Amino acid sequence: MMATNGGDEDRLGVKRAHPARLYDFYLGGKTNYPADRETAAEVLGANPNAMVAARENRGFMHRAVRYVVEQHGIRQFVDIGTGIPTEPNLHQVAQQFAPDARVVYTDNDPIVLTYARALLTGTREGRTDYIDADVREPDRILEQADKTLDLSEPACLSVVALFHFVGDDADPHGLTQRLLDAMAPGSALILSHATEDFDPEDATTGTMRELGRVYRSRGMTLALRDKATTERFFHQAGTEIADPGLTPSHEWRTELEIDQKPRLAGMVSAAEVGVWAGVGIKS
Ligand SMILES: C[S@@+](CC[C@H](N)C(=O)[O-])C[C@H]1O[C@@H](n2cnc3c(N)ncnc32)[C@H](O)[C@@H]1O
Repeated sequence: MMATNGGDEDRLGVKRAHPARLYDFYLGGKTNYPADRETAAEVLGANPNAMVAARENRGFMHRAVRYVVEQHGIRQFVDIGTGIPTEPNLHQVAQQFAPDARVVYTDNDPIVLTYARALLTGTREGRTDYIDADVREPDRILEQADKTLDLSEPACLSVVALFHFVGDDADPHGLTQRLLDAMAPGSALILSHATEDFDPEDATTGTMRELGRVYRSRGMTLALRDKATTERFFHQAGTEIADPGLTPSHEWRTELEIDQKPRLAGMVSAAEVGVWAGVGIKS
């Protein structure tokens, strides 16, 4: 954990739990503060599956990045809602399969900005950059990304576990469409999203419903969306969802696993992960 003084604490907003640091906690990271850990304890009381869900979501991101690099020849990424650096980061996966891959990271959390240096490493042939921005500012993100990427060539928009933190009032489908509109045909959309579709109807704990309730009670947005609403991100942005379609995150193309550690997938259920995941390709 980074040391802070009083001024920094206010600037970094560490007195209240924040999604990026809660996620870091679920992944076993150290970039979280007492307010985050206290909320995480409440979340895990309400839904002990949050840690499994975070790990499986991360695994989906790795496989999806490998997929678009290997099978669609993508070499450029705009990753929004990057999170606190956790190895392997997106550029490390992309550059493992295409050393010349270029990645622009974006997040709105000041703590992520503080740690962004860890994202600005990589191969000599490739490039990484970081933009301190909110997904609700798509034009600013595109303008900045254009300095590192060539958006007249296919690119990938990666919004993994991001849009459940954005309410309908900000029109998350419209934001995705705006970002994809600026990308060339052949571009890709990697997206995962929390859902209550898999919650057992009568369960009172261990559900995304309960997890959402705790987040909202702590002042965070947590918009759970169903399958049709999640599919609309892809369709409205002009992409066709690649095989095998939208799946629970742990089931998506498991043959592309990059992690050498034994996977939990065989032991995990959709109700535990509570996340839809998929990849779209723009024609
Ligand atoms: C659950 S983490 C996901 C991290 C990473 N994408 C992954 O899936 O492993 C969500 C991230 O989205 C960021 N975030 C939330 N709302 C955002 C917004 N409006 N604009 C940009 N980033 C946002 C948070 O700060 C956090 O880092």
